Amino acid sequence: MRILRTVDEARAVCRQIRYDGKTLGLVPTMGALHDGHLSLVRAARGQSQVVAASIFVNPLQFGPNEDFTRYPRAFERDCKLLEAEGVALVFAPTVEEMYPNDAGTFVEVAGLSDVLEGKTRPGHFRGVATVVSKLLHIVDPDSAFFGQKDAQQVAVIRRMVTDLNMPLRIVVCPIVREKDGLAMSSRNAYLDPRQRQAASVLYRALMRVQTMADTGERSASRLADAGRQVIREEPLARLDYFEVVDENTFAPVQDVSHGALVVTAVYFGTTRLIDNLVLHGVGEATRQF
Ligand code: PAJ
Repeated sequence: MRILRTVDEARAVCRQIRYDGKTLGLVPTMGALHDGHLSLVRAARGQSQVVAASIFVNPLQFGPNEDFTRYPRAFERDCKLLEAEGVALVFAPTVEEMYPNDAGTFVEVAGLSDVLEGKTRPGHFRGVATVVSKLLHIVDPDSAFFGQKDAQQVAVIRRMVTDLNMPLRIVVCPIVREKDGLAMSSRNAYLDPRQRQAASVLYRALMRVQTMADTGERSASRLADAGRQVIREEPLARLDYFEVVDENTFAPVQDVSHGALVVTAVYFGTTRLIDNLVLHGVGEATRQF
């Protein structure tokens, strides 16, 4: 496995792979890898001849009061995990390499970036869209792999790729969960044991909504109210939002007959966790997530 530190090096190596006629898959990450990330790597392995992963804790997507400095970093361990999964290239630039002092160009996906996650985290999706577009330009993969865990991030990236005519396939992989249903996340490491136990409430709330939808409830507001109620019953949880939206536009929906996305964000102390659930339309084939 090759570790590439500079943009020039990454460009040259990736160009050679394409020149050799091989398909290239990219898995962008911020490191501190867990099975959720590795599921993307496995999907990429299944669908590309060569897999590249990036590890870059992107300062641009963290707010001033967010956890950029204390975000978990485990580069050696991450590299071992990636190597064991058959990753050929790791692009791990420094902040200075990605954002030289005079960098002043940003990618802004209007509208979608301002609601829900974007409302609580102003500038977050600008940071995500900017770094992902840079990574896609540098590596120029045939496919890039993202997790449904960050559903709004997926919608922002899809919109960006469409709007900017980027020539690649976006592959979205299902949410990987712990045994009690908590979605795997690098931020779960911040939870103390009591908070960790309480954190399964996100999944329990989503499952309550799923059960109600399965038994015929179509009203988005009644489904959201029921989900919020489950969260409120957990004393360590502080609800940020629990909403039922269109999975592409993130606009609120009234009725879930044609499918919808249920999204939630909950604080445990200062740690903020997100999760989501895809509700299928009546008569729609079940998707993987
Ligand atoms: P990060 O949080 O490291 O996540 C990297 C990728 O792993 C994202 O596509 C995310 O959705 C996916 N992922 C995380 N947890 C998952 C889980 N439990 N199941 C399935 N997939 C999961 O998301 C980012 O980094 C950054 O915003 C990035 C796209 C790298 C841009 O900086």
